[in-house]
Amino acid sequence: MRRFFWPLAVVGLLAIGAVLVQAEDMTPPLGLPEVPVPANNPQTPEKIALGDKLFNDKRLSSTGEVSCATCHAVEKAFTDSPLPVSEGIMKFNGTRNAPTVINSAYFTKLFWDGRSPSLEDQSLHPFLNPVEMGLKTHEPILEIVRSDSEYSQAFNAVFGKSGNEITMQHVTQAIAAFERTIVSGDTPFDRWYFKGEDAMTATQKRGFDLFVNKGRCVSCHTVEQTTALFTDNRFHNIGVGINKIQDDVPELAGEFLKAKATLAEVDIKVLTDKRSSEIGRFAITQGFDDLGAFKTSTLRNIAVTAPYMHDGSIKTLREVVVHYNNGGVTNEGDPVNDFLSGGIRPLNLTESEIDDLVAFMEALTSSEFEKPDDSAGSK
Ligand code: HEC
Ligand code: HEC
Repeated sequence: MRRFFWPLAVVGLLAIGAVLVQAEDMTPPLGLPEVPVPANNPQTPEKIALGDKLFNDKRLSSTGEVSCATCHAVEKAFTDSPLPVSEGIMKFNGTRNAPTVINSAYFTKLFWDGRSPSLEDQSLHPFLNPVEMGLKTHEPILEIVRSDSEYSQAFNAVFGKSGNEITMQHVTQAIAAFERTIVSGDTPFDRWYFKGEDAMTATQKRGFDLFVNKGRCVSCHTVEQTTALFTDNRFHNIGVGINKIQDDVPELAGEFLKAKATLAEVDIKVLTDKRSSEIGRFAITQGFDDLGAFKTSTLRNIAVTAPYMHDGSIKTLREVVVHYNNGGVTNEGDPVNDFLSGGIRPLNLTESEIDDLVAFMEALTSSEFEKPDDSAGSK
């Protein structure tokens, strides 16, 4: 019954190695909760392999040159680091930095502004975005999966569907099932905090203390009793990007208030227009508290996914900490924006405390995603 993996999928699986939580064994890695799986989309090995194949298939773009993996590459911890903003078909640039897909199974809302409610919904959008995969409709994808013999066999085995019975619902369910296996924990921090092993350096331990106390980072990048996602799955304005469009906010906000755009329209607008991108979650909720607010990023594997923030505007972890230390201002002297989240204020960290915080974040890399050439240089 189990026909196990596609040649392509096998390559993918080998590359990720131990990262994948297999369908039979959903025990999450140390430091992570169980992966939530929707009742109508159960995990099976065949479905996961199919999702892996779709995730890596460049034929599903208008030029045949871009797959999901182009911007979420396994060897770059499922990002396109070091690009500040993504590059899609014809080298078109979007407006936002590609977040990692690792542990996105735990996010309750997808995208920097949370405009997508589930992994199943999320993958519909990059296919149609003119600066990502560039298709006009999903029809070309269906043509490929309905006619290609490997795909039609697989869709039949996984969903019992063939020909015109195969729909985008099946495509997106398979991709989501694959993404739910891209789960990664068991970092030096996890081994120290949850298992009591001496896995962190003294500097990193001091950094954790600052993370929880003086820096108050943990109020948004959360750590629970037995697990740590390092995100509260909520949205905050921490002073990135919106500073640049402060004077245009009334006009831009007005456009979104008037337009009552559909999700698909918002997807295209925010990824093709730099100024609209900076409106953040406001584009979705039209709540003034959400102006310039973006989703709290997970900090797992953060040391290997530079540059940082929704616009990729901050190059190093040290500069991120300096931004927080200045009270939500990247370059000292820049104005503080009017919509800054209440949790962001100057921290009075010393230079060595800043180093400690950076060292702590370097303890959040899972061994599968460590860059071999980095380990020598890290503190
Ligand atoms: C051209 C580059 C590009 C391609 C191709 C692409 N993505 Fe992305 N992906 C991004 C960017 C940029 C974002 C953030 C966009 C935003 O938040 O507005 C993103 C966001 C995501 C997220 C949300 C993560 C989070 O933290 O909320 C997931 C999941 C994801 N992509 C999966 C996929 C899948 C599946 C495909 C293929 C169907 C795909 N991506 C294709 C660049 C890309
Ligand atoms: C009020 C909530 C909040 C607090 C407090 C907070 N963060 Fe963040 N953090 C966020 C949000 C929201 C983002 C994404 C913002 C954006 O892209 O505009 C973010 C982004 C980051 C990023 C970049 C993530 C990426 O994927 O690019 C790092 C690193 C980071 N924070 C570290 C810290 C550290 C260290 C502290 C403590 C000094 C801290 N944060 C305090 C909410 C917070």
